[in-house]
Formats: sequence, C-alpha cells, structure tokens
Amino acid sequence: MTSSEASLHGRVALVTGASRGIGLAAAGALRDRGARVVVTSRDEERAKEAARQLGDNVEGFGAHATDEDAARACVEHVVESYGRLDILVNNAGTNPAYGPIIDQGHARFAKTMDVNLWAPILWTSLAVKAWMGEHGGAIINTASIGGLSVAKDVGIYHVSKAALIHLTKHLALELGPKVRVNAIAPGVVRTRLAEALWQENEEAITGATPLGRIGEPEDIGEAVAFLAGEGARWITGETLVVDGGQLVGSGPL
Ligand SMILES: NC(=O)c1ccc[n+]([C@@H]2O[C@H](COP(=O)([O-])OP(=O)(O)OC[C@H]3O[C@@H](n4cnc5c(N)ncnc54)[C@H](OP(=O)(O)O)[C@@H]3O)[C@@H](O)[C@H]2O)c1
Repeated sequence: MTSSEASLHGRVALVTGASRGIGLAAAGALRDRGARVVVTSRDEERAKEAARQLGDNVEGFGAHATDEDAARACVEHVVESYGRLDILVNNAGTNPAYGPIIDQGHARFAKTMDVNLWAPILWTSLAVKAWMGEHGGAIINTASIGGLSVAKDVGIYHVSKAALIHLTKHLALELGPKVRVNAIAPGVVRTRLAEALWQENEEAITGATPLGRIGEPEDIGEAVAFLAGEGARWITGETLVVDGGQLVGSGPL
C-alpha cells in the first residue's frame, strides 16, 4: 500500500445511504485508504449486505436518514464501538418530485427537503456533538451539479441540492477550525437514482460530456476520499464538481 492509499489509516468514517451507488463506492474508497467504515441504509439487512460486499473493516447499520432516534443510535454506536468518528459523508438522497415545480404538493417537497437537506444537518449535529467538535473531523455532503444549474422537471431536487451547497458553506463557517465541511457535485452517474436520466439517453449524455462517458460511482468515491483526507487539509466550504465536464459542456450553442 502506498502512503497516499494508507492516508486514512486509523480513521473512522460514517457514510449515510451507502447500500449501493455513490455511497457504497465512497465507503469502499475510504476503506481502501485504511479507514474503518460504517455504512447506512433504510434497511438493516441491505446495510449489512453492503458491508459484506465491501469486506474487511466495514459494518452495516440500519437507519433512515431523517429518523432522529436511529441517527443518534448510529452515531453513538460508532463512537462507542470504534472510539472516534473522523469522517461523515452525508450521502443519502432522494428525488420523488418529478415534474413542474408548481405541480408538486407539499408532501413531495417536504420529503425531498427532509432527506436531502435536513438529514445532513441532523447527522452533522450528532457527529459534531459526539466527537468532531472536540477532536476535529471532515464532513462531505453529496450535492449535485443540479444544485449549480437548472433543468425542467427536476426543480425541487435541484433547489434542495443548491441549498445543500449553501448549507455546506454555512457549516464550514460555523464548525471551523476543528471541522472541515465540503460538498461534491456529481454529474450524471450510473446509479439507480439517476436511471431515468441515463438509461434511455446514455449516448446523448456521453456526447455532451467532454470526458466522453457518464460517471461511475467510483469516480465520485475517489473525490470523497480526497476531501476526507490530509490532502484537503486547507479546503473547507468548497463544492467539488465531479462530472466529466458536463457543466462546462452545456448550453445552446
Ligand atoms: N447518480 C447521479 O447521477 C447523482 C448525481 C448527483 C448527485 N447524486 C446524489 O448522490 C447521492 C447518492 O445517490 P446515488 O445516485 O448513489 O443513488 P442510489 O444508487 O439509488 O443510492 C441511494 C442510496 O441512498 C440510500 N437511501 C435512500 N434514501 C435513504 C434514506 N432516507 N435514509 C438512508 N438511506 C437512504 C439507499 O439505500 P436503501 O434504499 O437501501 O435505503 C441507497 O444506498 C444522492 O444524494 C444523490 O442525490 C447522484
């Protein structure tokens, strides 16, 4: 193992929404650099299965991201079992509100904001009060290039991610110097959540992507591991776009 691969040796990480997709890949990237990792899912068995899939030094824990009791139990379990909590990846996300913004009811708005915005506040608060506030840590929020751009029919989701990017800056201000808070903004990545975006359109998206392909979860996992590690020690409040150039490639001309 090279020194950069081992850069998270001795650290403990918690990744929400990691039974598959970007969260699973982020957990794998953190573990590969030496961290012990706890992954969550709404379903305990799926969380444990994801941990088995990743192998050594990964544990699964069932916790809906917005369930305060479950979140507290999870954070307490991590600190009691591993003695520390250095890295939190607020990755769980949802997009139940497809269509024009003015046609979305309050229930879909609230669910999107609860999972995509409130849950990162809740887990950050718990992690900071249980460990990071005193000992330091790194928090990474999974935003989206949707939080930096506009598109039809996904407005509520985009607004939630734009707010998450702004939240990242506020938390960085409030929690420094002990805790760094950053976000990643993935482009279109081959996961279940984004299936509606890429499954029928992969060729078109590939053509509009300067780096010539849609993203794979591991592309994002690498960026999460970078922001979690020593190499990012003077970076906070930042949002790292990881999109193969999709944002620079858009536009009518
Ligand atoms: N894929 C993309 O193109 C893309 C682009 C930009 C940003 N993102 C963001 O990336 C993050 C991960 O999404 P993904 O694309 O990897 O999707 P995914 O493959 O569908 O995975 C979503 C993960 O979140 C978990 N999850 C969903 N709701 C949850 C909740 N309320 N509490 C706890 N866990 C929950 C799911 O686990 P269970 O079903 O087992 O609970 C699953 O592990 C999201 O924040 C998403 O907005 C994705």
